[in-house]
Amino acid sequence: MSIEAFQTVGIDASLADAVLAAVQSVLGPAQQALPLHEPEFAGREWDYVKDCIDTGWVSSAGVYVDRFESDLAAVTGAKHAVAVVNGTAALHLALLLVGVRPGDEVIVPTLTFVATANAVAYCGAVPHFADASFATLALDADRLDQHLNYILESGGGRKINRLTGRPIAAVVVMHTFGHPAEIEKVIEVCARHDMPLVEDAAEALGSTWRGRHCGTFGTVGTLSFNGNKVVTTGGGGAVLTDDPTIGERAKHLSTTAKVAHPWLYMHDEIGFNYRLPNINAALGCAQLEQLPRFVAEKRRLAEAYATAFASIARVSFVHEPPDSCSNYWLNAILLDSSESLAMRDSVLERLNGANLMARPAWTLMHRLAPYVSAPRMADLSVSETIERTLINLPSSPRLARSLA
Ligand SMILES: Cc1ncc(COP(=O)(O)O)c(C=O)c1O
Repeated sequence: MSIEAFQTVGIDASLADAVLAAVQSVLGPAQQALPLHEPEFAGREWDYVKDCIDTGWVSSAGVYVDRFESDLAAVTGAKHAVAVVNGTAALHLALLLVGVRPGDEVIVPTLTFVATANAVAYCGAVPHFADASFATLALDADRLDQHLNYILESGGGRKINRLTGRPIAAVVVMHTFGHPAEIEKVIEVCARHDMPLVEDAAEALGSTWRGRHCGTFGTVGTLSFNGNKVVTTGGGGAVLTDDPTIGERAKHLSTTAKVAHPWLYMHDEIGFNYRLPNINAALGCAQLEQLPRFVAEKRRLAEAYATAFASIARVSFVHEPPDSCSNYWLNAILLDSSESLAMRDSVLERLNGANLMARPAWTLMHRLAPYVSAPRMADLSVSETIERTLINLPSSPRLARSLA
C-alpha cells in the first residue's frame, strides 16, 4: 500500500475541516447518518428466505446450507467451505483444527477485532501479540520472523516460547479492512518455523492476492458474514480449507460431533452447535450472487476517496497493497504519524457531527483488560501509530452509485 507522501502545508486546526471537506466532496452532504457499512438486499433474498419459511427448513439442515457452502467454495477457490454461525465460531474451530491446545500460545496481531484474540482464549490458549506493518496494516512478516527466531526453542517435539515456557502452536494473520496481508512472506515464515497458519479473512471476502482468494493460503481460513460485512447472512461465518480431513472435521465439530445415523443420537467427542441455519444460508446464497457488484462498487468508492484525499495535507488514503485486489471493506485514512490521539478524535467528532459515521481502528488487543498481561513483541509501535492515526470512513457499496 503506497502511503502517499504527506504534504507539508496545513495547520492542526484545519485538519478536521479538510478531512470533512474531502469526504463530503465524495459523498455530498449527509442529511441522515451515513453508516460505516450497511447491508444491501437487492437480489433474490426474499425468494430464498421465503422458500425456507414455506418449506419449514429454517434451521440447521436444508438445501441452502449445502448450496451456500458450494457457492463459497466456488467463489473463493477453497476445496472445502463449512458454514457456521459466525466468524468467531469459525476462528475457534480453525484454531482447534490446526491443533491448538489449552496452555499453548498463538501469535495474533494486536491490531485486530477482539474476536481473533478471544477465539484463542476459547481454546484455553493464550494470544501472543505481534506488530503490523504500515504497508498492509497486517502482520509484519519480517519482524515476525525475527521475533520467532528470538523466542523459540524446540522441546518435546514442539516449538516453545523460551520466555514463558509455553508452546507456540499457530500463527493467525488477519487481512485488515479487506486488504490482503503480505501472505507469501507470512507463509514462508510459518513454514520456516514449522507453524500452521490460520487466516482470519473475516473482512476479506472478494479480496485476492495475485489472483488467489484471501482465506485460502493458510492451513485453515475463516470468513464472517456479520451484518457489517461485504456479504451478510445476518450472522454467519465459514471455515475454508483445501484439506479434506480438516474439512470433514470442521463439519463434524460444528454439528455437535454427531455420528451420522438415521435416528441415533451419538456424539463421539465434545462438539459445538456452530452450524449455520438454513434461513441464514438462504440469505447468504442471494448475497453471494451480488458479490462481484458489491466489490466493484466498493472499489469505485475507494478510488473516489483516493482522489479526494490525494491533495489533502497530512492525511493519506490507505491503498490496497501491491499484487493484491482488495474488496476495500472499510475505507481508511491515516493522519500523519506525528498527529496526536486528540487530533484523531477531533477529526472523528467533525465527521460524526456531520452525519458521517467514521470510526477509529480497534483498541489494540494488548491494551484490553483480558489481555494486558498476555505475551507480546517488545515493540508494537507500528500498531500503536495506526491505532492513534487511522480513521475508517463510510464504505457501503451503495455510496458508489451516487458518485459524480
Ligand atoms: C477481523 C475479524 N475477525 C473476526 C470477526 C468475527 O466475526 P463475527 O462477528 O462474524 O463473529 C470479525 C468481525 O466481526 C473481524 O472483523
